[in-house]
Amino acid sequence: MVPATLPHDAPVGIFDSGVGGLSVLRHIQAQLPHEHLLYVADTGYAPYGDKPEALVIARVLAIADFLIAQGAKAIVVACNTATVAAVRVLREAHPGMPIVGVEPGLKPAAALTRSKKVGVLATERTLRGAKFLQLRDQIHRDTGVEFLLQPCVGLVDQIEFGELASHATTSMLERFIAPLLAQDADTLVLGCTHYPLVRGAIERLLLDAGRGDVALVDTGDAVARQLARLLAASGLLRVTDAGSIPAALTGYTTASATVFGAAFRSLLGIDPPVCAVDIAEPQPLPDAPYN
Ligand code: DGL
Repeated sequence: MVPATLPHDAPVGIFDSGVGGLSVLRHIQAQLPHEHLLYVADTGYAPYGDKPEALVIARVLAIADFLIAQGAKAIVVACNTATVAAVRVLREAHPGMPIVGVEPGLKPAAALTRSKKVGVLATERTLRGAKFLQLRDQIHRDTGVEFLLQPCVGLVDQIEFGELASHATTSMLERFIAPLLAQDADTLVLGCTHYPLVRGAIERLLLDAGRGDVALVDTGDAVARQLARLLAASGLLRVTDAGSIPAALTGYTTASATVFGAAFRSLLGIDPPVCAVDIAEPQPLPDAPYN
């Protein structure tokens, strides 16, 4: 349960299966520099993309409970896979709480494409989700744009290992992207929050293929704007003055704090305090046994 009156000074809770949500966190820090932030990397359970839906839902509910117990006034599900699987259940569990999810940017991509072909890079689970498929069908009906769905199996793992530009990661990206270009896609949706972290490698690959014209769509910026809107509408934006304590960021991980601390330094160039935590799922799990 969310307490009836939450002080605007309370932190915003953000989470992902791992480091991917840091691509969203950096936009939140830029747009809402006064907010205290908590970030959970559920690395002990990553990647979510190849896990059964019931497990992803259980993890989302457990992490949200953890963040609320730390005093979070709002939650950002900085993971497409978790949003597609569980944001509805999460909103039902916490009515009145500002909750922002992240979904592949099909709408902005449809507005950008000239060839009417858009490649969507995401996890298998996101691309199979009913919520995602409904959105795709609706935008296709409205605009005639064709969405070419490309599951990127293994890419989240590469990024979690810190292999942002290794030979293995580059050839994996090439294998996923070349067929989309061959089908005339001129816009690629980065439909997993991990993928903006390899944007540099994707841009190099496109340049090498003579396709520097291809647009990349990432929704991190839009998620931060939506969070700002929801906080303002609920009277929860943190107000500061000269005497206020500076905004603080705390990282939590369900795996190694040392490894996650290193990821903060290498990906964002910051060194916040990081704690390893055990976030257990409530029993019994929804829809157990896992499908
Ligand atoms: N960052 C998550 C997403 O946006 C990765 C999912 C996974 O862990 O497979 O979908």
